[in-house]
Order: sequence, then C-alpha cells, then structure tokens
Amino acid sequence: MGEELKGKRVLVTGASSGLGAHFVRLLAGQGARVVAAARRVERLEELAADCAGLPGQVMPLALDVASVPSIQAGVAEAARLLGGLDVLVNNAGIGETEAAISITEAQWDAQLDVNLKGCFFAAQAAAQVMIAGKQGGTIVNIASILGERVTARVLPYAVSKAGLIQMTKGLALEWARHGIRVNALAPGYIATDINRDMLESEVGATLVKRIPSRRFGEPADLDGPLLLLCSDAGRHMTGTVVAVDGGHLVSGL
Ligand SMILES: NC(=O)c1ccc[n+]([C@@H]2O[C@H](COP(=O)([O-])OP(=O)(O)OC[C@H]3O[C@@H](n4cnc5c(N)ncnc54)[C@H](OP(=O)(O)O)[C@@H]3O)[C@@H](O)[C@H]2O)c1
Repeated sequence: MGEELKGKRVLVTGASSGLGAHFVRLLAGQGARVVAAARRVERLEELAADCAGLPGQVMPLALDVASVPSIQAGVAEAARLLGGLDVLVNNAGIGETEAAISITEAQWDAQLDVNLKGCFFAAQAAAQVMIAGKQGGTIVNIASILGERVTARVLPYAVSKAGLIQMTKGLALEWARHGIRVNALAPGYIATDINRDMLESEVGATLVKRIPSRRFGEPADLDGPLLLLCSDAGRHMTGTVVAVDGGHLVSGL
C-alpha cells in the first residue's frame, strides 16, 4: 500500500476493543486521521495514547450506535474534528448466543439495533457529510460469514449481518452517483471479546476442524482487505462482499 490513506479523514465505530481498535491502529499507521468512536471512552483514550507514535492521528469520540440522535451528533462531531469525512468503517457490533425458541424481544432488538439499524444511520449521516464535501468517500460495513450462511443459536446476529450485506448493495447502488463506494468485509471467526470464550472451548475445537485452512483468523488477516476497500486501490469496487475466512464459507457440506 502506498500513500493512499495519508491524511484521509476516517471514522471507525466500535473502536474500543477487538477488530475496531485494530483497524484504528492500522489506519493511523497508514497516516490517516482517525476518529475512534464507541461508548467506553476511557478505552478510546488509552488507544489514542498508544497510537501517539504513529504517522496518523487518533481522536476518541463517545458514540452509541443504538441511538440515532447519538449517531447523528457523533458523525457531525467527527466531521467537525476532521474537517470532513472520507471513510466510514461501520464496525460496532454485538452478538448473543440463544436458541431461536427462547429469544426475547430485547435480545432481538439489541442486536438488530446495533448491527443493522445503527450501521444504516451511521452510513446515512456519513454519506450526507461526504455528499456535502463533494469529494466522494468510502464506507466499509463489517459484516460476517454468518450473513451468508447460518449456524445454530445466533439467529438475530445472522439476520442482522445478512441485512447488512443487502444494505451494502442497496447503498452502493444509490450512492455511486455521488462517488461513494459501499462494500462489506465478512470476516470468519477471529478471537475477540465477542466470542473468545466460545472459540477457546470444546465448541471452538470442533469448529476449527470445519475451516478449510484449519485455523481461526487473526485481526491482521483483515489488514489487506480493509485497506483495499478503504483506499483508491479498490476504487472501482462497490457493492461487494469480501470474505476473509480461510475458506470457511466454502467448507464442504
Ligand atoms: N470476532 C469475530 O470473529 C467477528 C467475525 C465476523 C464479524 N465480526 C464483527 O466485527 C465487529 C467487531 O467485533 P469484535 O469481534 O471486535 O468484538 P468486540 O471486541 O466485542 O467489539 C465490539 C465493539 O462494538 C462496540 N459497540 C457495541 N455496542 C455498541 C454501541 N451501542 N454503540 C457503539 N459501539 C458499540 C463496542 O464498544 P463499546 O462497548 O465501548 O461501545 C466494541 O468496541 C462486529 O461488527 C462483529 O460482528 C467479528
């Protein structure tokens, strides 16, 4: 990757842990100016301090993607801090394990609100800034292989990610005329707070045998694909879903 992301104005949601924190480090390492957003601001402040030696810049921002007013205020504040917006990484997400027969309305709403509705309104607010800036932009939605195939006991999560993939395609269609590209990155299993207990259990030991590469992913496996979608290296890509899963989606039935 060359200098494509140097000085780019980036907002990453769900930046206080796991993949989001990794993306912030990666993008700031490429010289981007990054607003790192989540609810746990103290974590974001630690991340910004950790990134102080990188070529780019990291600015913490409190943002709750379960609240549309918080998203709208947060995206406006990010645009103010950055002087516009070139890239949104829609990464905030939650998941909960529960049998379909027992899922409550609260569990359903929480996952759909954060993983799907929150991503839509963040994309809409970001696109409004990008359109006003007349320089286009790029949006990367962090989906999942569970948006394309299913497993048991994660139904609202899988439905939210399938919706996010369809949303990616619809927004790519509507916003191409504004020079805004919208793509999805669909990771396979990577140990983070969202799933570490499961992946390190017997269930994880069984699961890894079904992945053609016979390993779970690591955050760094996403670096090349994320940079591709965020930068001009992927300038003619929009409406795509890039799976990064060691072949898990093509595992034999
Ligand atoms: N790890 C995997 O195997 C995997 C695979 C496929 C896709 N993904 C996706 O990757 C994304 C990142 O997940 P992760 O694995 O890095 O898990 P994680 O470590 O649990 O991170 C989730 C992030 O989302 C944020 N978040 C949750 N609710 C939020 C809200 N209401 N408002 C704002 N931020 C919120 C959390 O920040 P706060 O709690 O501080 O707000 C946290 O920073 C998710 O979309 C997940 O579905 C992960």
